[in-house]
Amino acid sequence: MKKLIVGNWKMNGNLTANQDLLVALAGNQNVASGACDAAVCAPVSYLFQLKNVLETTRWMWGAQDVSAHDAGAYTGEVSAGMLKDFNVRYVLVGHSERRQYHGESDSLVAAKAQRALAAGITPIVCVGETLAERERGETMDVVKRQLAAVIHAVGHCATELVVAYEPVWAIGTGQTASPPQAQAVHAVLRAQLVAACGEHGMSSRILYGGSMTAANAAALLAENDIDGGLIGGASLKPTDFSSILFAASAA
Ligand code: PGA
Repeated sequence: MKKLIVGNWKMNGNLTANQDLLVALAGNQNVASGACDAAVCAPVSYLFQLKNVLETTRWMWGAQDVSAHDAGAYTGEVSAGMLKDFNVRYVLVGHSERRQYHGESDSLVAAKAQRALAAGITPIVCVGETLAERERGETMDVVKRQLAAVIHAVGHCATELVVAYEPVWAIGTGQTASPPQAQAVHAVLRAQLVAACGEHGMSSRILYGGSMTAANAAALLAENDIDGGLIGGASLKPTDFSSILFAASAA
C-alpha cells in the first residue's frame, strides 16, 4: 500500500515561515511523482494559505481538530463544514494533546470523527497509551478501547478512517517506539479494523506517530502494518521532512 505521511504543525507557524515551508513542500519530487501520499495539518488560521499554495500540487491538507457539533452557540469551535470550505481532506481527532489538555473523552472523539465523515473529511483517529499504561501492561486494551469507540459510532464508515498510533510517551520526547513495538500495536489495530470492516480493514491506513525522524522513518515504515507516519517536530524542518518523504517513497 502506498505510504501516507502527514505533518502535524501543532500550534506553530506564522504567515512568513509557513510560506517558505509550503513552497519547499510543493517542490518535493517524491510527492509530485506520486511515490507517496502526503498532507499537512495546520492551525485553522492558516488553512487558506495551505489551500493557496498546495492546491495545484498532489499535497493534501488538513486541520488538527473539529467540533463535535454542526453549528450554533459553540464559541471558539470550528465545524467540519467550515473546514470543508478550505477543501480540507483530513482532520486529526483525538490527538493525545487534546485528550490530555482538553479532557477529550473517547465518546467526544467518536462524535468528532462522525462529524468529519458526514462533511466528507477523512478523520485521522489518534490512539495511544501513556507511559504508566504501558508499564502496567495496558497498551493493547487502551488503544482498542479508543478505536472501538470510534468504530462503534461510525458503523460501516469505519472503512474510511485513517488510524494513527501515537504512544504518548514518544510524542515530542525523542523516544520512539521500536519498530517491533510499534508493529505489535499496529497488528492489533489492524485486526480490530478487519473485524469491523472485513477485508476493507486490510487497506485502511494505520500511521505511526511519536518522534518519527529522518533517522528512524525507514525502519518503522518497513514494518508490515505501518502504512505511514504522523510527524510533529520533524514536519517543521523541510530537510528532515523531505528525508521522511523519501523513506516513505522507498518503503
Ligand atoms: P512528534 O509529534 O513527531 O513531535 O513526536 C507527533 C504528533 O504529536 O503527532
